[in-house]
Amino acid sequence: MRAIEIIGTGSCVPHHTITNDELAQSIDTSDAWIYPRTGIHAREFCTARQSTVTMAVEAARKAVDDAGIPVTGIRAVLAATMSPDFSTPSTACFVSEALKLREDTAALDLNAACSGFIYALETARGILSGIQEMEQEDAPLYALVIGAEQLSRLLKLEDRTTSVLFGDGAGAVIVKLTEAGRSDYAVTLGSRGSRDILAPGLYTGAIDKSVDHMVMNGKAVFVFAVEIIPRLIERVLRLSGSDLAQIDYVLCHQANARIIRHVVRKLQVPEAKFPMNMERLGNTSAASIPILLDEMHGNGTLRGGEKLLLAGFGGGLTFGGMQLRFRPEDRT
Ligand code: ACO
Repeated sequence: MRAIEIIGTGSCVPHHTITNDELAQSIDTSDAWIYPRTGIHAREFCTARQSTVTMAVEAARKAVDDAGIPVTGIRAVLAATMSPDFSTPSTACFVSEALKLREDTAALDLNAACSGFIYALETARGILSGIQEMEQEDAPLYALVIGAEQLSRLLKLEDRTTSVLFGDGAGAVIVKLTEAGRSDYAVTLGSRGSRDILAPGLYTGAIDKSVDHMVMNGKAVFVFAVEIIPRLIERVLRLSGSDLAQIDYVLCHQANARIIRHVVRKLQVPEAKFPMNMERLGNTSAASIPILLDEMHGNGTLRGGEKLLLAGFGGGLTFGGMQLRFRPEDRT
């Protein structure tokens, strides 16, 4: 089976820290309310000179450097985002230009909200597989897959039901097209579409023009998340014929520590298998999993050879689970 594996990571997190205590100076909230419910103490917001595009470009450059590949090997760039600077040109086109990628590189943005990074990885696999079939190339084929969000633009500070949850940031990976058995790559994607829009899950803009910022039915999203994540994990493991003991880390979308702890209890696994970083960054939607990957690689948690399971869920509603390998060639 044609699969992808991650061979490089990068991230860009803005350094304009807003703590819960600082938010509490402007709105009726407190660290004592936010932290126990979410695991979030602080988030980073873009400065005036930063945006989804600038963060995406910086994360992408770092991922290319980390992978140590020539940019001429990159044949697709995908940016998962629900907060692009522009509808068009896409974030991916800006990245393509900034990194001087070759002209026959596919470039597109993709919006599956917080599940977007997993959707983008699977789309990258499809594009690279198509190129290989079409061109019968022997040279390795790579894609640059980014999650980038400036969610601070979609928030209204006074709406404390959402403004305390989200943050800005970008993460990127280089993936390589490879041949693998089912035990090394499995994916499942899904959505619940309009049913949850009618009974509001999470949405922003458009449908009702009076909604000018991110609106969420927190309780409905919580119930959805704790139901879907264990099922995603089970589905991926069934597809790959693996069990959870064979997976080194499960990287969940970093929405909320309480959601992840719920899943940990349900699956009866050690919490250390489910790394978290929302305490410092809040929920960065499509960027949360690639930022976490880059942090784990940067601090030596990921050394190469690990089997990872990614689990995303979010607006739409959408969801996606994926099992793949991290730098398998580094295993000594
Ligand atoms: N500070 C203080 N009080 C608040 C705040 C706040 N920031 N927000 C709401 N409240 C108040 C409410 O007004 C309500 O007051 P009332 O009882 O007087 O009416 C009370 O706190 C309880 O509100 P609930 O909404 O019932 O609070 P809950 O315990 O459900 O926690 C939360 C809310 C944290 C949002 C929870 O529902 C949750 O974690 N949901 C999941 C949200 C999520 O993860 N979304 C993102 C996933 S999708 C994506 O990432 C794009």
